[in-house]
Amino acid sequence: MTQLIRAPYLSLFPPTSALDDTMAIEIAPLAIPATADASKLAGFGVEIKGVNPGELTPEQFKEIEQLLYNHDVLLFRDVDLTPEQQYRLTKAFDPTSESYGHGNNKTEKTTKSILHPDLKTIPRQPQVQLIGNGTVYNHEGLAEAMLKHPSHTTFHKTQVSREDEEKGYTRFYRWHIDAALYDLSPPKVTTLYGIKVPKGHKQICRYDDGTGDELEVPLGTTAFVSGKLMFDLLPPELKSLAVRSKVKYAPHPYVWMAPTHAMPTGLGIETEGLELPLDQLPPWEESRRKTLPVVWKNPVTGNLHFQVHPCGAAELLVDPLPEGANHEGALYPDGAHITDLGTVRALLYKMQRPAIAPSLVYPHDWHERDLVVFHNRGVLHSVVGAFKPHQVRAFHQCNLAASDDPAGPTPEEVKKYA
Ligand SMILES: [Fe+2]
Repeated sequence: MTQLIRAPYLSLFPPTSALDDTMAIEIAPLAIPATADASKLAGFGVEIKGVNPGELTPEQFKEIEQLLYNHDVLLFRDVDLTPEQQYRLTKAFDPTSESYGHGNNKTEKTTKSILHPDLKTIPRQPQVQLIGNGTVYNHEGLAEAMLKHPSHTTFHKTQVSREDEEKGYTRFYRWHIDAALYDLSPPKVTTLYGIKVPKGHKQICRYDDGTGDELEVPLGTTAFVSGKLMFDLLPPELKSLAVRSKVKYAPHPYVWMAPTHAMPTGLGIETEGLELPLDQLPPWEESRRKTLPVVWKNPVTGNLHFQVHPCGAAELLVDPLPEGANHEGALYPDGAHITDLGTVRALLYKMQRPAIAPSLVYPHDWHERDLVVFHNRGVLHSVVGAFKPHQVRAFHQCNLAASDDPAGPTPEEVKKYA
């Protein structure tokens, strides 16, 4: 099932072997687990062989970029990648981007942010973060880094019981897009490089939302779902709502949500009135808040991806139906500005939950020296599972605040789906 793209390239580096002249990028579908609906996930994710992602020529990079936007998740195996190379690769997707997706070091200084304990910056390449579990010594200029794999037990309203955890049950931690969602634009890609990957038994990810849904996953998997599928699965009235809507995010959303609890699926926040009041947040300005379309247009395929970070969403702004549209069965035909958090969350959950069904999730089975590059504007992802303190895991993660905001659907597309 290996597909060859015949694309000889001009190497910027001195040829080291005769093979260089004939090398081609080789791609193969990702190994989709038995739990997944292969027909629905067809084309989602590819493994790329035959190139060194740390030293791509401009021609190779162009191919990789096309592959990313066409397949959303790229896997490279057995990769050696320095933090500098990872930064350069990430930056190549958005050459004028510069700072880490959450702002360099800002997250660490904002100690109230729920992201604070999860990220350690690589000193000489601060856009690259060390994430993982356990204590890592003498790592890229960090003498000692204590890492904690985030787990649902510190974030969800309810928890898997101790006994069930011992039996291997777990949950998705938080479905999200990598983005500050305040002031900065959502990164185009995220690169995740597995350096230390503890082996262990599979776990069963339980949804605990009354559906009985569960999914067997590799220990410490990163789970991905397609934002395109999330949109495509919607019935017509919700497609109409999605293409007409924008989400306004809370200011400093990760501080705002810090006192809250998540739903058992990790897909948004329970409405309990626990959000930090806006006057208790670090200083913020209305003009820096992010209002982004619900649906983002893929710059290469033109496909529409449902891209909402449900935890940070505060308001929905719905445009009225365009002229000539059929009002029958339409939701908010005259438009709306929905500020009630419970309503905002219920609408988003209704639209996003179908796409995290067990058969639609790609849980990546990490091996050491795997590099995963994902289209952060085309997928949602979640940390999954729980490690014991002695299970040391070390990953490098990089994403860069983008040079622009994502584009929404065109007026023609709004007309088509409205
Ligand atoms: Fe993430």
